[in-house]
Amino acid sequence: MNIEGSNILVGISGGIAAYKSAEMVSLLQKKGANVRVVMTENAVKFISPITFQTLTGFPARTDLFGNWSKNYIPHIGNAQWADAVVVIPATANIIGKIACGIADDLLTATIAAVTVPVILAPSMNSAMYENPIVQKNIAFLRQHGYYFAEPAWGRLACGTEGRGRLAPVEDIVAFLEKVLTLQDDLSSLKFLITAGGTREPIDPVRYISNRSSGKMGYALAEAARRRGASVTLVSAPTCLSPPPGVRVVHVESALDMLKACEEHFVDADVLIMAAAVADYTPENYRRQKIKKGQGVPEINLKPTPDIVKELSGQRKAQFIVAFAAETDDLEYNARQKIIDKDLDLIVANDINKGIFGSDNTWISLLDRQGVIARYSDISKKEAAEIILSTVAERLSDRN
Ligand code: CTP
Repeated sequence: MNIEGSNILVGISGGIAAYKSAEMVSLLQKKGANVRVVMTENAVKFISPITFQTLTGFPARTDLFGNWSKNYIPHIGNAQWADAVVVIPATANIIGKIACGIADDLLTATIAAVTVPVILAPSMNSAMYENPIVQKNIAFLRQHGYYFAEPAWGRLACGTEGRGRLAPVEDIVAFLEKVLTLQDDLSSLKFLITAGGTREPIDPVRYISNRSSGKMGYALAEAARRRGASVTLVSAPTCLSPPPGVRVVHVESALDMLKACEEHFVDADVLIMAAAVADYTPENYRRQKIKKGQGVPEINLKPTPDIVKELSGQRKAQFIVAFAAETDDLEYNARQKIIDKDLDLIVANDINKGIFGSDNTWISLLDRQGVIARYSDISKKEAAEIILSTVAERLSDRN
C-alpha cells in the first residue's frame, strides 16, 4: 500500500515531543495521506487539539464517549477507518497501558480494536527508556507485532543526554511507508508453509517426535497472509491457534505431510518448509498397545521421505525455502543442505540458543552464494517478516 491515499490515524500521548506531531501530520498530508488525530488528555496539556483541527480539517478527539451514537462508536469507527496507526510521541505510560491491554481512553481503546499495523515512536527520559519494565513492555509488544520507530540518542528536554529523543519525524514517516508496503507486497502469490514437529506412531499410545513448537511456521503463515498472500499451512500437531485467513491442513506423520504438501505444491508459488520433519519412523506400527510385561520392545526404524527434496525434484518455478536446525557448523551445514535439497534459500537456526518453544530465535539467511544476513535474538514474528521480505525481493529480481 502507498502512503498516498492511505488513512493514517495519528495518536498523540502526553510528552514534550508532542509538538513534533504537528510537523508529522503536515508531512503525512504532503505525501497524500488522509490523517485523523486522537489525543490523550495529557497530550492536550502539551499541544492544542485546534492545531490538528486546523491542519486536518477534522476535530482531534480525546473523549472515548464524545460523539458516540447508535450508528457510530468512536474507537471502533477509528479502528475500521485506519490503514495504520502512529503514536507520536509514545510515552512510557502509553506503552505500558497497551502492553497490559488497558483501553480506558479513546486512543488506547482504538489501539485495542485495530487489526492494522501500529507504530510507536517512543520519547522519554533515557532512564525511563532504559527502565527494565519499559524495555520488557517494548519487547512484549514487538512480539505481538507492534512496530517501534527507535528513539535517537541526544540531548533530552529534561537536560540529560542519552537515548530517548523522538526519532526524526522524516524517519518515522519513512518507517511508516516501509510498513505500509509490507501490507500487500505478496498479494498475487500462493504460499505453502509447513509447521510443527511430525509424530511417527509406534502404537496407539506412543509416538516419536521432536521439540518443535510450530511458532516459526505459524508466524510465517500469519505474516504472509497479512501481506496479501493466499496461504496453505500444512501443520503437524501444535498448541497454536490457526492464523486468521489461512487454510490449515492438519497432519501427523512425515508421510501424511508429504501427501498434503504434494497436493498443494503444484499450485504454489512459494514453499517454506518450517516443519521439523522426523527423519525416521517405526518400521512397523503396532495396532495394539505394547504391554510392559512383554519385555523391552525393540523398535526398528526406517527413513522417512525427505519432503523438501522430493518437492524440489517436482518443481516447475516454485521458490523453495527450507530451514536447517544445527548444533554445530551452522552455516557450513546449511550450505550443504541448499545444494543437496536444491533450495533457493535456507534459514539456519542455531539450536544451541534454546530456540525450541521460545518466542525468539537466532538465524542466518543463506543462498547458494553464501550468507546473506545474520540476526541474533529477534522475535519469530520479526524473523518471519525478514524471511518474507527476502523471498519478495528474490521473486521481484526474477521478473
Ligand atoms: N526436511 C524434510 N523432510 C525430512 C527432513 C527434513 O522436508 N524428512 C526439511 C525440513 O523441514 C527443513 C530441512 O529439510 O526445512 C532441513 O531439516 P533438518 O532437520 O535441519 O535437516 P535434515 O535434512 O533432517 O538433516 P540432518 O538431520 O542430518 O541435519
